[in-house]
Amino acid sequence: MKNELKEWVSRVPKAELHLHIEGSLEPELMMSLALKHGVELPYSSIEEVRSAYDFHNLQSFLDLYYFGASVLRDEDDFYQLMYAYLQKCREDNVVHAEIMFDPQTHTQRNIGFEVFMPGFARAIKQAEKEWGQSCLLIMSFLRHLSEESAMQTLEEARHYLAMITAVGLDSSELGNPPEKFERVFAKARAYGLKRVAHAGEEGPPAYVWGATKSLAVDRIDHGVRSIEDAKLVAHLVKQQIPLTVCPLSNTKLKVFGHMTEHNILQLLEHGLVATVNADDPSYFGGYLNDNYFALIDHLPIEKSHLVQLVKNSFSASFLPEKVKQSWLAKII
Ligand code: ADE
Ligand code: ZN
Repeated sequence: MKNELKEWVSRVPKAELHLHIEGSLEPELMMSLALKHGVELPYSSIEEVRSAYDFHNLQSFLDLYYFGASVLRDEDDFYQLMYAYLQKCREDNVVHAEIMFDPQTHTQRNIGFEVFMPGFARAIKQAEKEWGQSCLLIMSFLRHLSEESAMQTLEEARHYLAMITAVGLDSSELGNPPEKFERVFAKARAYGLKRVAHAGEEGPPAYVWGATKSLAVDRIDHGVRSIEDAKLVAHLVKQQIPLTVCPLSNTKLKVFGHMTEHNILQLLEHGLVATVNADDPSYFGGYLNDNYFALIDHLPIEKSHLVQLVKNSFSASFLPEKVKQSWLAKII
């Protein structure tokens, strides 16, 4: 039975809505780019890199994630990073991906939009041409940095707005509430950009309220802690604000002690538009299908739940309505 469910998940077309491109940097590429650029890494083998990925909370992961990204230096590095993820999409039948990138992780190291955007664009065009991959980009601000830095990043992105669909908010959640970025998100909205924000991953339901009220988000990234506040759940259901849930991330970062404790089925039972996503697949042990498989292995999940989750991935996407409908019709 579990195998049948896994086979169905593998072959059905899916969308992925919460994926950090820097979090898809596999140890093999990290080590080859370190060699190319003469960057010293504190690891002597791929196995050593993987065994360092043992996290106790979000910050312990972020420290390694920003460090890993330091090997990304030139246009071709960003091309290789993006093309490798898009090939995973092809393997997993992820027909549409909404991909986050963190410009400040690179601009802080004097690597500008003129380096990473052409690299991303080249990979995206190639995947579109080679197998019809659909994707769009979400520019995410690092919330541990200042409002001023986010505002400056938004201005630096102005030449590239045609390539960017939405803005997001990620990095260290606790102590950096959404309200800090109210003016940045208002400006992004005025530029015609959609809005998403990480909230309710480690932070309390108040941060999810903050993201909906102060940032006028179209989606919440994670949001699993919303369930602690019944009024918030009712609000998210009424407004149909989707949650991009990341099961392997949540267990790796100890948001839940074990996959058997994950609350995704309760989220669905409340009528929330929950979706399944990989977040940072190279750090958390799996791409999109592996996240569905983990749910199948550890929760009393049925085909109807999986159908709902896959349908939600399209209805919660930023695809045009007609395109959404044509994918939705294929999920049976
Ligand atoms: N950046 C990359 N992955 C993240 C996550 N899960 N939470 C916050 N910031 C992130
Ligand atoms: Zn994330």
